[in-house]
Amino acid sequence: MDSDVLTRSGRAYGAASDRRGPSAPTDGATTPREGSVSPPQDDPLWWRSAVIYQVYVRSFADGNGDGTGDLAGVRARLPYLKDLGVDAIWFNPWYPSPMADGGYDVSDYRDIHEQFGTLDEAEALIREALALGIRTIIDVVPNHISDQHEWFQAALAAGPGSAERERFWFHPGKGENGDEIPTRWVSSFQGETWTRTMEPDGSPGEWYLHMFTPEQPDLNWNHPDVRREHEDVLRFWFDRGVAGVRIDSAALLIKDADLPEVGEKPDHPTEDRDELHDVYRSWRAIADSYPGTRVLVGEIWVPDIERFTAYLRPDEMHTAFNFDFLARPWNAASFRASITSTLAAHAPVGAPSTWVLSNHDVTRPVTRYGREDTAFAFLKKRFGVPTDPSLGLDRARAAALLVAALPGSLYIYQGDELGLPEVEDLPPQLIEDPMHYRSGGIDPGRDGCRVPLPWSGQTAPFGFGPDGSRSWLPQPAFWATLTVEAQLADPASTLHLYKQALRLRRQLPELGDGDLEWWDDAVSGAPGILAFRRGEGFACLVNTAEDPVALPADHEVLLASAPVQDGRLPGNATAWLASRTTHPSREPAASRG
Ligand code: NOJ
Repeated sequence: MDSDVLTRSGRAYGAASDRRGPSAPTDGATTPREGSVSPPQDDPLWWRSAVIYQVYVRSFADGNGDGTGDLAGVRARLPYLKDLGVDAIWFNPWYPSPMADGGYDVSDYRDIHEQFGTLDEAEALIREALALGIRTIIDVVPNHISDQHEWFQAALAAGPGSAERERFWFHPGKGENGDEIPTRWVSSFQGETWTRTMEPDGSPGEWYLHMFTPEQPDLNWNHPDVRREHEDVLRFWFDRGVAGVRIDSAALLIKDADLPEVGEKPDHPTEDRDELHDVYRSWRAIADSYPGTRVLVGEIWVPDIERFTAYLRPDEMHTAFNFDFLARPWNAASFRASITSTLAAHAPVGAPSTWVLSNHDVTRPVTRYGREDTAFAFLKKRFGVPTDPSLGLDRARAAALLVAALPGSLYIYQGDELGLPEVEDLPPQLIEDPMHYRSGGIDPGRDGCRVPLPWSGQTAPFGFGPDGSRSWLPQPAFWATLTVEAQLADPASTLHLYKQALRLRRQLPELGDGDLEWWDDAVSGAPGILAFRRGEGFACLVNTAEDPVALPADHEVLLASAPVQDGRLPGNATAWLASRTTHPSREPAASRG
């Protein structure tokens, strides 16, 4: 292979990959401050194959017993993450915030929310994780800030026409009295995207833009202060050793200043505008000026796959979340179409794909895959949609092995490794998510996937916090069987399946970054089979149908999401296989049951 770069697993990468390694500081990028913490530099391409675990801090582990997860809780559980076998943690926003949108309303980008801890604790956490070989990725939220942020408060106080308002999208209303909304742009959270301000004398004033809630005013990315501020924030955290940033709402930052309605011009006024690429080029230059490959990961919901991968050109972001796959129904042909188009679109830009089954915004896979309609769409979310949790769990386990075998990096949302279902019966008065309220109560919102993790014991809070404490959202009583403690004691548990998969992924040079080859004749005549090979002798076979299938006799089973009996893989299951002829035989890992 044309390469001189070897990774942790001894795998070699080709020239296209090498292009994307760290480069010398570019004009405009400062060198890291003295004494700054750096992740290891021995594997510059770590991110191409990394397994990244998403920590929603508020719901991961509560160190001080106030019912809310915190950094002390995460620090205490780092050995768990090490044991699970992850390479990095992505933290949802951990900054001071009034929590109008679960922390995506940031009031200070350089500090830690007081309920979560302190900046010193964050620095200690980053160092302790690094000592265990785990990198830290943080969330940055550039599209909007909290209405409590000092910039927005200053803008309100300064009034129309002021320099302070230029950093946002303040605009007079339409109509004679300015009481008509400036545009009819629709929020991703449903409803209007402009809110009218009140002048100090009580009279109605200008409107301001917010693509999400009114508590999240959008920043004006045409303003140099806004660009400079975010570049400084990147340096602030890179100096503290973070290995990358997840960029929230990354395709929304730039707006058409003429404020056209959607459809009035060929390009979209608020989404995926060409000018965005310059922003990320300047961010990439900053990231590349730091040792240890600091990565940019975009949250990009752009349906056109070519426009999506344009953000992943070598001088822009490293990777972006692949939501196309996440939204697909439980269907072999649909999965294959998504995988094929994803890999084909990533190849020309030399970027690896990411594989994401869930996150803090979407319905948990166990619940989703147990429904009649297994595809995911925000606008479809409703209360009371029936699900078969046992079928859903089988499929979620199978999907976990599928995505862990695909080429690229892998994201695991906290609790998916425990097979947690969505909690669909939260007491209505405890629901906090603005998506629920802005839908008029029709959309259940996202709190059901944000319920605090169960760690141990028989009663709530299941070790989430100290005995006797309560969690900010209640956990179902049946989670006693799903705790980390219970699953560690059960070799057939979902937690064990994840641990085995991640251990094999680390050991097998065929997994992680690279290519795949579809294996069409793996099982002849059976419907619903998805099979592919990687490297010399590794294969993954998914049976999305109901009936068992006979596995190819010339392969041994390395791992399976359901018990393989008499060489037959049950329906709704995945097996990882090794060719007996071309792959050195390995000790088979246990399967479920
Ligand atoms: C995407 C985040 O994942 C979501 O949780 C948040 O509500 C929106 N961006 C707005 O920041």
